[in-house]
Amino acid sequence: MQIVVLAGGLSPERDVSLRSGRRVSEALRNSDMMAEVTESDVDATLIRRLRQQAPNCVVPMLHGAAGEDGALRDVLQALRIPFVGSSASSARLAYDKPVAKTLLQQAGVSSPRSISLPHSTFRELGATEVLDAVVNEIGLPLVVKPTRGGSALGASLVREAHEFPSAMVGAFAYSDVAMMEAWVDGVEVAVCVYESHGEPRVLPAVEIVPPGDLYDYSARYTAGTTEFFIPARLPGPVLDACAAVALQAHAVLALRDWSRCDLIVDAEGVPWFLEANAAPGMTETSLFPQALAAAGLTLGDVTATLVRTAIGRSGL
Ligand SMILES: Nc1ncnc2c1ncn2[C@@H]1O[C@H](COP(=O)(O)OP(=O)(O)OP(=O)(O)O)[C@@H](O)[C@H]1O
Ligand SMILES: [Mg+2]
Repeated sequence: MQIVVLAGGLSPERDVSLRSGRRVSEALRNSDMMAEVTESDVDATLIRRLRQQAPNCVVPMLHGAAGEDGALRDVLQALRIPFVGSSASSARLAYDKPVAKTLLQQAGVSSPRSISLPHSTFRELGATEVLDAVVNEIGLPLVVKPTRGGSALGASLVREAHEFPSAMVGAFAYSDVAMMEAWVDGVEVAVCVYESHGEPRVLPAVEIVPPGDLYDYSARYTAGTTEFFIPARLPGPVLDACAAVALQAHAVLALRDWSRCDLIVDAEGVPWFLEANAAPGMTETSLFPQALAAAGLTLGDVTATLVRTAIGRSGL
């Protein structure tokens, strides 16, 4: 049995991916799976190496574009190599924040009002006029973020209009399209889903208390900066509502094997959908492994089960 864990790649989240990949590989080696587990980066030799090695299964631990936008999964599907996680088309839907939000809103889930605009619109229509129109429509404060990205890179909070232009520049550094989304003041919660025998199971909600306004890159990956509470300190019915939204996101976006849903719960207890992740982070400080541990599960056992499921999946 040979398993290849793909990690690295050229995205701005390369470092995070390498850490996720290392963690998953170690967990698999310590599981009951009698397999040879190797870690592999993504480069021009990858397809040749995969063809030669013909692994029984690949575990993509790539974050950001290529890993999460479906491209690499399309390649794995074309090579007929089983892999853990969502199909290329579902990963693509989830990776595009405005698309995922619209699908969830159509399914009756609350998601903050937003406008997504490409860089070219600002050039063509004039930045000042466009920003004025956005503030009129969405109000302040608002969050600016790349429509396709992760780890909160390029995301910032705009409390006052004068902060808006630099926030846009920050988002456009990571993506051609920026999303401006109404800020939801509330409790940040991440709800992870994993599948067991094809049945999605929801893990205890993780409450995130970052040191600043946003759960940003340094709050995510500097151990000890962010406080976590599992389960989240919310009333039972609100926790149930969060779990329901995570399961709905998993179903509506047709996500597979594992996913993580990011939510903000407002003062009335309403969970607002921010986004769903087809390749949840698995680093030492990441949310998915913490939620698994709180449920008494190990990353190794859960990943091993998903590897077996992926191998058994017919037609990939
Ligand atoms: N509308 C909002 N209201 C309040 N906080 C928000 C909002 N949008 C984003 N945030 C904050 O910014 C962070 C990053 O936003 P988001 O999860 O949408 O992007 P991301 O970069 O794709 O992150 P990930 O790595 O989780 O995929 C969130 O974890 C949250 O702290
Ligand atoms: Mg997020």
